[in-house]
Amino acid sequence: MNPAASAIRRPLATPPAPASPFPYNSGSLLSVLDLTVDGVSHLLRRATDLENEDPIVRDHILAKRRIALLFYESSTRTRTSFELASKALGADTTLVSSLSSSIEKGESLKDTGLTLRALGAEAIILRHNASGAAWLLEEATRLPVINAGDGMHEHPTQALLDLRTILQHLRPGVSGVGPETLAGVTVMIVGDILHSRVARSNMLLLPRVGARVLLCGPKELLPELAARSGPGIEIERDFEVALAQSQAVMMLRIQAERLAGLQLDLDDYKTGYQLTGQRLAEHAPKAVVLHPGPIIRGMEITAGVADGVQSAILEQVTNGVAIRMAVMERALTAESGAPADRSSSVGRENGGRA
Ligand code: MLT
Repeated sequence: MNPAASAIRRPLATPPAPASPFPYNSGSLLSVLDLTVDGVSHLLRRATDLENEDPIVRDHILAKRRIALLFYESSTRTRTSFELASKALGADTTLVSSLSSSIEKGESLKDTGLTLRALGAEAIILRHNASGAAWLLEEATRLPVINAGDGMHEHPTQALLDLRTILQHLRPGVSGVGPETLAGVTVMIVGDILHSRVARSNMLLLPRVGARVLLCGPKELLPELAARSGPGIEIERDFEVALAQSQAVMMLRIQAERLAGLQLDLDDYKTGYQLTGQRLAEHAPKAVVLHPGPIIRGMEITAGVADGVQSAILEQVTNGVAIRMAVMERALTAESGAPADRSSSVGRENGGRA
């Protein structure tokens, strides 16, 4: 045998993936995977504590701390609830949006982030149209960065508020979660799953607390591959068959801004996947109906269902404030240098400045 051959022979096993350095800052929330199940539980409990706290006492938790909201995409619910949540804890907030700042003149995300840090921002809440933007900003600034939606990738606080809403309906009185809390529960996610960061964060979170996630939609918006995203995730293309198995039904908007030339017959879509009062009454008369908003009445959901007794859409909005209070408290009071999931051991000893 050629002696050189054994020298260049490589082991066949795949080398281990390098450990991710993210998040650099223990207060950041880039992905739902930054949280252990205990960490999620802690945030849910803190959300309830903070919601019930005397507003005068609550106002001192982040008194005068400086939080920047950096929004490259429009938003009503997410932006307003992050702002109200931060202010409810006494923080000062400032909004920088891509339409009224130097971003319009071509400033990069990195430079905008460094500028905000130099201006005294202690945490940045970022919404961006590019997947991964929150990671880039965190690496550049090393501040606590909260991902308020990055492209088609993740929207972790939406998944947390969705979980809180599901628990209130299906596990009333349960304040925290464990790996089996939603055992026996099927949560269906319907529609434009391909382009949805809300779907992705929920698919990463719900199975970890025991739920089965059933995805439903046409092939163009729900590739077969999605069923292999992780354990506890399945596809059922027939909307009515899926409805009959679901205790929670999460409807999604068709994200027209991300279709990139994809042609979709909207009448066919409505015939196959619109949630109507009749479908709900026939196949899932007890299910709770969710939608991250904005809802397009008459497209994915009828007005009657959106306003109906099974709808928890406005409860989701309200839950957004409580969850985001807990997330912002964690952002600015987490111990710096603690391991990846620091949310279960919130400490205030160092004032949280990272
Ligand atoms: C999002 O920001 O992803 C929304 O909450 C859902 C949507 O835009 O349809």
